[in-house]
Amino acid sequence: MDKSPQEENYSVLAEIYDDVMGDVDYETWTDYIDDIIVEHNPESVDILELACGTGTMALSLEELDCYTITATDASPEMIRVAQQKAERMKSDIEFRTMNFLDLQFEKTFDVVYMVFDSLNYLHTEEEILELHRQVRDVLKPDGIFIYDFTTPRNSRKAIHFLNHEEKVVNRNYRYRRTSRYDEDAGIHTNCFIIEQTDPHTKKTLQTFQEEHRQKIYTQREIETMIKKTDFKIVMAYDGFELKPAHSRSLRITMVLK
Ligand SMILES: C[S@@+](CC[C@H](N)C(=O)[O-])C[C@H]1O[C@@H](n2cnc3c(N)ncnc32)[C@H](O)[C@@H]1O
Repeated sequence: MDKSPQEENYSVLAEIYDDVMGDVDYETWTDYIDDIIVEHNPESVDILELACGTGTMALSLEELDCYTITATDASPEMIRVAQQKAERMKSDIEFRTMNFLDLQFEKTFDVVYMVFDSLNYLHTEEEILELHRQVRDVLKPDGIFIYDFTTPRNSRKAIHFLNHEEKVVNRNYRYRRTSRYDEDAGIHTNCFIIEQTDPHTKKTLQTFQEEHRQKIYTQREIETMIKKTDFKIVMAYDGFELKPAHSRSLRITMVLK
C-alpha cells in the first residue's frame, strides 16, 4: 500500500500531463470546437478557454489564425507548462492562473469553452450554477459557452482499461493509474502514483500521489441545472459529433447561449 501524501491535484501531474494524454487527439478535438464556433457564433474573435491545462488545445486553436485567445487554469503548475510551450511556439496566447469560479477580466469574449471533463471537477449544484454565473458575466451578449462532461456510461467503460495502467513516461518519471467508480455516489476516482526516478539507475527517488475525484452527471441532471441559469441550451452534442446526444453518449458537449 502506497503511503505517499496526497499532493495538490495537477501539481506533480503537470510534469507528465502531456505524456499521460499522449493518446488524445487534440487536433481533431480542436477542429470539433472550431466547427461548433463556426456553426453557432461564426463572427467570433475573442476566445476564452477555462481549465486549459497545459494549453494544448489553445495552442492548436491559435494555429487556425482566426482567434485571439486567453487561456486559464487553476493550477499554477499546469499554466507554467503551458507558458513554456507557448514560448517555444512563439504564441501570443495569454495564459493566466485563475479559478473558473472567480473569473477576473476587464474584457468580454465571444466564446468561452472548457473541455475534457473539467466540469466534472465540480461536485455540487451550487458550484455549477456559480460557474455559469461567472461565464455569463464575461460573455458578450451573443456569446456562446461550450463545455463537455462525461456520462455514467463512460465511467463504467473507462475503469476497465484505466485500472493498473503502468507507464514510464520519460527518463525522470513513471506513473500508475487506478480508477474506481462509485455509481451510487456518482463519483469517479482516478488515483495517480507518480514516481520520480533516477535517469541512470531507474531507482525511485520520490513517490507522489494525486487522487482526482470527479462527479459524474447524467444529461438530465446537467440540463436541469442549466434551466436554473440565465443560459439557454442551443445544442447537446454526442461526443465529437455534430449530432444530438443520446442515452448511449459517453461524452456530451453542451452549447449554451
Ligand atoms: C482533465 S484536466 C483538462 C485540461 C485541459 N482542458 C485538457 O484538455 O487537457 C482538468 C483541468 O481542470 C482544471 N481545474 C479543475 N478545477 C478548476 C477550477 N476550479 N478552476 C480552474 N481550473 C480547474 C485542472 O487544474 C486541470 O488542468
